[in-house]
Amino acid sequence: MKFGSRIISTGLGSPSLKYTNDDLSKIVETNDEWIRTRTGIRERRFIDFEKGETITDLCVRAAEQALERAQLKASDIDLVLTGTISAETFMPNNSARVIGRLGMKGIAGFDLSAACGGFLFALHTANAMIQSGAHKRVMIFGADVLSAALNMKDRTTCVLFGDGAGCAILERVENPDPLKDSMVLGSKIYTDFDATDALTINAGGSRAPTFRHDLHEKHSPYVQMSGQDVFKHAVKGMVHAATELLTELKIPITDVKWFVPHQANLRIIEMTAKYLNFPMDRVFVNIDRWANTSAGTIGIALSEMQEQNKLQKGDLVLIDVFGGGFNYGAALVRW
Ligand code: UT7
Repeated sequence: MKFGSRIISTGLGSPSLKYTNDDLSKIVETNDEWIRTRTGIRERRFIDFEKGETITDLCVRAAEQALERAQLKASDIDLVLTGTISAETFMPNNSARVIGRLGMKGIAGFDLSAACGGFLFALHTANAMIQSGAHKRVMIFGADVLSAALNMKDRTTCVLFGDGAGCAILERVENPDPLKDSMVLGSKIYTDFDATDALTINAGGSRAPTFRHDLHEKHSPYVQMSGQDVFKHAVKGMVHAATELLTELKIPITDVKWFVPHQANLRIIEMTAKYLNFPMDRVFVNIDRWANTSAGTIGIALSEMQEQNKLQKGDLVLIDVFGGGFNYGAALVRW
């Protein structure tokens, strides 16, 4: 292999509002005990929509932190990728807005739509782009503001999600040695079409545009979910992706230092770790403070781990995600 890529930095963008479970219980019929025991969530962060805060603000915060940690300038980046389903606008896309805000010139950026899988799909793409020789240093985001699509009267969904952005910078490694170098060792992504509509945002696209309110009874503009169906698919998909990846790489799970799963539900995380035979004390969990930030979860987790000095050079980090689509996958990174 001529080129590989390694993650050299991470950052996170946090929204300015915080809502505890008790705060939500004043808006919708729910309670702290139900949310905590069923999901592990204690609080979540939302953008301050009234004050004009946007997903671009979150991404810019995350990017600035990642650049500062890596001691790089925005002009050192040659491609921007965003995994998101909640860009400020369909056009311009989120990556274009970030490029504009960071004053980047002469480079490209595009978005990938893979719901909660967004960060991992962007990582997979960035790694392939760097391996191909087309790019040297890629900034990726997993970011979502699902509060924009939450029905705050629907307690089965509105308590589960939060807003947030995670960023990582990937850099070329020349003639990498997969047995010892810091690098992305591999990734696998999958899409199984969700024919049962278990997890959808049905309006807002071209089938039922936002201005066609007459269609919204049939095609909801909100996140809709059949929780138990998604739960089962999530555990199965994440176990499958991680197992296939480790088998292909011929690396036993006992060599993995950290398991960093998508943060949708603590019970999904625990069950996935159990099926993978991985001890919970080396599973990174922050769902209690962030809830499910959709594409945001993995980048935010890696950034917090970097902040807490949990990631040491040489550590094997297994990332595992599942989301609407269904899109799911896993990546193994040597830090
Ligand atoms: O990122 C990927 C996308 N999302 C996921 O992966 C989430 C996957 N699913 C889940 O995490 C879980 O299925 C949920 C947390 C969504 C739901 O947990 P559950 O244990 O499957 O609960 P349930 O849907 O079976 O609901 C149990 C009860 C119901 O009441 P009845 O019918 O038994 O009287 C619900 O109406 O809990 C009720 N309920 C609530 N009660 C208080 C549902 N939501 C709430 C709520 N507060 N927020």
